[in-house]
Amino acid sequence: MATAKPRRSSKRASTAARRHARAPAAPTFPHAQLPLDRILEGDTIERLAQLPDQCVDLVFADPPYNLQLRNELWRPNRTKVDAVDDSWDRFAGFPEYDAFTRGWLQQCRRVLKDTGTIWVIGSYHNIYRVGTALMDLGFWILNDIVWVKSNPMPNFRGVRFTNAHETLLWAQKVKGAKSTFHHRAMKALNDELQMRSDWRIPLCSGKERIKIDGQKAHSTQKPEALLYRVLLSSSNPGDVVLDPFFGTGTTGAVAQRLGRHWIGIERDPTYVRVATQRLAKGINRSVPHEALEFATDLVPARVPFGALLEQGVLQPGQELYFGPGRVETALVLANGHLRWKGVEGSIHQVGRAITDAPCNGWDHWFYEDPATKNLQVIDVLREHARRNGEDPNRVRKGSAPRQQGTGATRSRAQD
Ligand SMILES: C[S@@+](CC[C@H](N)C(=O)[O-])C[C@H]1O[C@@H](n2cnc3c(N)ncnc32)[C@H](O)[C@@H]1O
Repeated sequence: MATAKPRRSSKRASTAARRHARAPAAPTFPHAQLPLDRILEGDTIERLAQLPDQCVDLVFADPPYNLQLRNELWRPNRTKVDAVDDSWDRFAGFPEYDAFTRGWLQQCRRVLKDTGTIWVIGSYHNIYRVGTALMDLGFWILNDIVWVKSNPMPNFRGVRFTNAHETLLWAQKVKGAKSTFHHRAMKALNDELQMRSDWRIPLCSGKERIKIDGQKAHSTQKPEALLYRVLLSSSNPGDVVLDPFFGTGTTGAVAQRLGRHWIGIERDPTYVRVATQRLAKGINRSVPHEALEFATDLVPARVPFGALLEQGVLQPGQELYFGPGRVETALVLANGHLRWKGVEGSIHQVGRAITDAPCNGWDHWFYEDPATKNLQVIDVLREHARRNGEDPNRVRKGSAPRQQGTGATRSRAQD
């Protein structure tokens, strides 16, 4: 069975830039009543309990790993390894760790808006336990991202593989809710290639690594590059981002750079001080609005296939070809459906019947150009239809005020 390689119209991006489909607004909590852009010092479960229901758009959590390191680690040259053996990472065992995990996750779920999503980062020591807790509490996992460390610490004793990655779980509070995902922004950030779930980013080092008297201020300070992707992909300018394990305040630092509000919770007064100093520099620096609203975020207006018939671009009785080689032929019906070998349905449904796999019909059905007799993918016609049928109510101009949930949503692949 011939299947067509998806072809993209070169005009698509510019069309997308001029249009935007509105997503329903998420409930908003009055910002004035929230401790925005502040660090709440104390135990995270207690502090979370003081926040109102459904008041944050995004959670990024970097909880204790429960590494259970009891002995010091030494390199072959007898220098000590900077391992995570801090008091904040000590738990009596799995039951205590699990109870703690469920406690803070439950609170995060309560304070998250229904449209919100949560990211949790961890290593093999804890991420499976966290994943189970997330699912048990009703979160719906959207992705697991592998942060591949381009400069990992070697396994000094040579008894295992070098541990060169951490895992980020990304989950939504309500399965199927219209949560924010800036697919196009991620693609733009990645030189126009769709961003994959393996992120190669170096460990936090050099000038970015905060030091006190020449020593690392925190054993697990995360690189800003990691948070940049998290926040850019899954939040909007002006959103409230909560980090219940704030540490040195990496989430806050990136939120400031991207024009998001943040709330941090941290128990250790030393880290609170470190983070406060780090964030003081950016606290009154606002990011120009124009730099945060970009065309790549805008969702192209939806064009039903039937609009091509209404606009006279295609005619009932005309034939369409599946793939560029005229292997399969279908008849266009007056109601916008196709008929192929007794199967009737939308361009996507008939495509699916042919390939026995999910199919975006816009990329696979071809029509014959009457002038040249060449085959053209029907997605080209969709672009024409978009331009002809421009509806100003569906277009968000770059300078318009931000709407809640303006990111692309996952259900529009076949719009
Ligand atoms: C893995 S570190 C987070 C590092 C942070 N992402 C950064 O880039 O600096 C976890 C942090 O959570 C804090 N923490 C651990 N248990 C806590 C609790 N019960 N309440 C509040 N903070 C806690 C620790 O003090 C530590 O700074």
